[in-house]
Amino acid sequence: MTANRQLCIGLSLSATWMKGDGWRRPDSDIEKMGSIDYYIDLAKLAEKAKLDFLFKADYLYLSPQLLGDSANFGSPDPTMFFAAIARETQRIGLVTTVSTTFNPPYVVARQLQSLHWLSNGRAGWNIVTSIEGADNFGDSPMPSPQERYAKAMEFTDVVRKLWDSFPNEAIVIDRESGIFSDKDKVSSIHHSGDFFSVQGPLTLPAHRSGSIPLFQAGASDTGRNFASSIADAIFAAMPDLESGVELRNDLRSRAQEHGRNPNAIKVLPGLYFFLAETREEAHELHKSAHAHLSMERRHASLMSVLGLDLSSFALDDCVTTDMLPDPNQSVRSRTHAELLRRYITNHEPTVEEVLIRPEVVGSAHWVSVGTVEDVLNDIIERHEAGVIDGFIALPGGSEESMKLFFEKLLPQLVERGLFRTEYEGSTLRAHLGI
Ligand SMILES: Cc1cc2nc3c(=O)[nH]c(=O)nc-3n(C[C@H](O)[C@H](O)[C@H](O)COP(=O)(O)O)c2cc1C
Repeated sequence: MTANRQLCIGLSLSATWMKGDGWRRPDSDIEKMGSIDYYIDLAKLAEKAKLDFLFKADYLYLSPQLLGDSANFGSPDPTMFFAAIARETQRIGLVTTVSTTFNPPYVVARQLQSLHWLSNGRAGWNIVTSIEGADNFGDSPMPSPQERYAKAMEFTDVVRKLWDSFPNEAIVIDRESGIFSDKDKVSSIHHSGDFFSVQGPLTLPAHRSGSIPLFQAGASDTGRNFASSIADAIFAAMPDLESGVELRNDLRSRAQEHGRNPNAIKVLPGLYFFLAETREEAHELHKSAHAHLSMERRHASLMSVLGLDLSSFALDDCVTTDMLPDPNQSVRSRTHAELLRRYITNHEPTVEEVLIRPEVVGSAHWVSVGTVEDVLNDIIERHEAGVIDGFIALPGGSEESMKLFFEKLLPQLVERGLFRTEYEGSTLRAHLGI
């Protein structure tokens, strides 16, 4: 596998650097987090650095774990959030997350197309099927992953048909003849499926820049199949190189089975980095960001991710394959459970090693801790192995970590020809090379 393209880089605006005890630092600027101005400044910084896009994950429930000792100024609707950012930026892409499990597709098609208009062709849609939230939509208990994906496929199909139902070419604006739009080019979609009945057409024409790029998150067998049939990019949980090689190869062959170019899907893992001037400081930053995770919390997280209870074992006991629970038992996210299951099967680690895994202490993202050079080498290693097309930056530990990313790490990537110095286009499609 060879790396033949510049990296595609997004920045998550979910304030990951405030996670854990990050917000408690005297220099955290935590009070500013409750104001949109804070995010607008960050968006401008990311645009100045020519990043491909800004990104925001979204959950439709308030986790009790995010109350009390976690930094939480609430989680605004990301599409509305990006509508505000759209007017303050000109080129950077805006990738919002919208669940297909609880929303009506007509509303979502309209909101996303509206964001595309407001931003002049810079919207992107991260498609998720949600892991919780059914109680907030009169849909309890949570539908099974199979049902959620079946719904996601139909939902996405409806949204795309709605976007096509009112093409931009339908706008004529001929003052002389008095024809504003060509009625024949606007059509109903007459959709009637297992989950939705939607007549169409949409209330607004598609933006002239072309369709909205689709991202997808969720990498179980069904999730990958879904991604390989429609996605332009996948927001991947890739805790290590090994899982990256497996994911990349699998997505390539699935894309081909769907009659697509094997490289059509950009693999963009979350990169949770802890950067500091020295390696010691960086490790200290990483340690303090996780200091709130007691042994009880780690065991509880392991139970919730994999249904595995190791609380009666010693930290240096070995975790073997035969200790793994039944693979068919239901879990919150099959992606995260499968990653951990594979890690245990391949490495038979100690209990302590399991309890520090990214699947247990975080969201299974790729964690890189060290100096600018250390993290740079980590990125180059995965790029050269051909497993990533870029990454979504999740700065960790402190604002300083993010500052080093912008001021030192990105320039190093530019110097090596791995990242752009100028935007070539002004739409997300153009940045992603779609
Ligand atoms: C990297 C990653 C990011 C995700 N981000 C979100 C999110 O922002 N909001 C959400 O509701 N679900 C999110 N999910 C959950 C997925 O959409 C999906 O519901 C879940 O992983 C179950 O799908 P699976 O069976 O394919 O694992 C994410 C999953 C992964 C792997």
